[in-house]
Amino acid sequence: MKKGGFAGYVALILVTTLLQTCLVTAFLADAAPQPFATAYGFPGFSSMRHRSILRDEVAARLKELGNVSDSKHVLERTFLSPAAVAAGRLLITWMKDAGLRTWEDKLGNVHGRSDGANATAPALLLGSHLDTVIDAGRYDGALGIVTAIAAVKALKIEGKLQQFPRPIEIIAFSDEEGIRFQTTFLGSSAVAGTFQPKHLKNLDARGISIGAALRAASHEGTVESVSSMKYEPSSVWGYVELHIEQGPVLEAQGLPLGVVEAIAGQTRLAVKVRGSQGHAGTVPMSMRRDPMIAAAQSIVAIENICTHPEKAVAGSRGATAMATAVNHAGAIVCTVGEIHSWPGASNVIPGEVMFTIDVRSKDDTDREINVVRIESEIYKICKKRGVACIIERKHEADAVACAPKLSDMLNSAAVAAMKELPPFRNNISALEDGGMMAPTLVSGAGHDAMAMSLLTQVGMLFLRCTGGVSHSPAEHVQDDDIWAGSLALLRFMEGVLGDLSSRSPY
Ligand SMILES: *[C@@H]1O[C@H](CO)[C@@H](O)[C@H](O)[C@H]1NC(C)=O
Ligand SMILES: *[C@@H]1O[C@H](CO)[C@@H](O)[C@H](O)[C@H]1NC(C)=O
Ligand SMILES: *[C@@H]1O[C@H](CO)[C@@H](O)[C@H](O)[C@H]1NC(C)=O
Ligand SMILES: [Zn+2]
Repeated sequence: MKKGGFAGYVALILVTTLLQTCLVTAFLADAAPQPFATAYGFPGFSSMRHRSILRDEVAARLKELGNVSDSKHVLERTFLSPAAVAAGRLLITWMKDAGLRTWEDKLGNVHGRSDGANATAPALLLGSHLDTVIDAGRYDGALGIVTAIAAVKALKIEGKLQQFPRPIEIIAFSDEEGIRFQTTFLGSSAVAGTFQPKHLKNLDARGISIGAALRAASHEGTVESVSSMKYEPSSVWGYVELHIEQGPVLEAQGLPLGVVEAIAGQTRLAVKVRGSQGHAGTVPMSMRRDPMIAAAQSIVAIENICTHPEKAVAGSRGATAMATAVNHAGAIVCTVGEIHSWPGASNVIPGEVMFTIDVRSKDDTDREINVVRIESEIYKICKKRGVACIIERKHEADAVACAPKLSDMLNSAAVAAMKELPPFRNNISALEDGGMMAPTLVSGAGHDAMAMSLLTQVGMLFLRCTGGVSHSPAEHVQDDDIWAGSLALLRFMEGVLGDLSSRSPY
């Protein structure tokens, strides 16, 4: 950090994986203080010292933030709503308490920044979203912001915030869920420079446009003001987000933390099946063209395709193709979540059935191959049953890969945090023959990291939530898991610090 400069830093980047492994191994193998151990703190000491900040204060703040709602009865904070603005103000006081300089930007995102030792070095960004769905839980989004604030506060108390080799900036994004304007990632896309100006005209349920909502909240709400928010890629080093898993995998593995390797891409299809409407009592079975049966058969076929997805491997055949298919089992998830029939009466053979298909995978090619398989299977079924099918592609988003370098660092930090905390020590060591890996996950849900990936490299940690439940007041994270999460972010930042300072350990 002091000497060595940029070239030395680049050289160190190249051995990051090795370095990270050494750092963790060094302090795990031997608790005696060594120069390297500084980069990850002294095990069993600093973590206990920060228990009140990393665990108890975060849990209390999440409760407090969970009370900031537009509705008396349920948790609800939508883009620029009074509760969202109040939540932003609360976050600003906590960011200041952590030693950060704060501001609200032109799209209602709340920022807290520390310049560290070099104000012009590319910044480490940390964050998540402060908006919620309707009748939300208190962890989705808020957890990533509040744990990041706690980790920075601990860094400040340890006197490491000022020496940090690059600026640290926490961003609480104003809109991720897209509830009010039906458009997701408004906040993060403005920072990434991909906000589409036409969206300023989007209307909410009361006919208020995004532009008007911004102006009502004392922002300019113009195309120019929003375009000016774009961060220069060269001013940013990377973006890291901690989020609840919103699924059951970590719970099944008995561990609080996992590293996200990719955010799944998604295709949404709408299928219309037309047959001949008729009387449920008078048309013989053999003379029907019933779209409901074609839909039902299609839905079962979809499950079958996605349970045994196919990966096209050019030039491979037989056993290789088979092995590849097996390797990719579980790599695709497909859901039929919406179905309607017309006219929808118990004594009428439907004339038309409409259903949706949601297909997600971390691999865009796999997704496309299997979407085509699904389409052709549906057409085949419809043809056989003498009904007409129309399949429309409603939405398509490519997968986002997390940066391997950041994922390696987050893995080391997550393993270190779990090793350090008594409740998880036993469970993490059970995985040790697997090479000290935290579980690796694919995010099936979209996150701000997806929008931020168009600006900079991204990394994500997932935190276990009870039963995998989210978007519900039943959403829950154990206090000790919260501790593991904030501690992992702290260890990650100390790892970044170690990257640059390990040449001249203090
Ligand atoms: C949340 O609000 C309820 C009801 O107003 C109150 O009893 C409770 O103390 C509040 N909790 C926090 C942490 O602010
Ligand atoms: C600060 O960072 C900038 C940008 O990376 C770099 O050019 C400069 O040399 C750094 N300054 C110091 C004192 O390290
Ligand atoms: C450890 O793993 C077991 C088995 O998966 C699980 O039941 C338990 O809750 C885990 N303990 C902690 C503290 O996570
Ligand atoms: Zn979220």
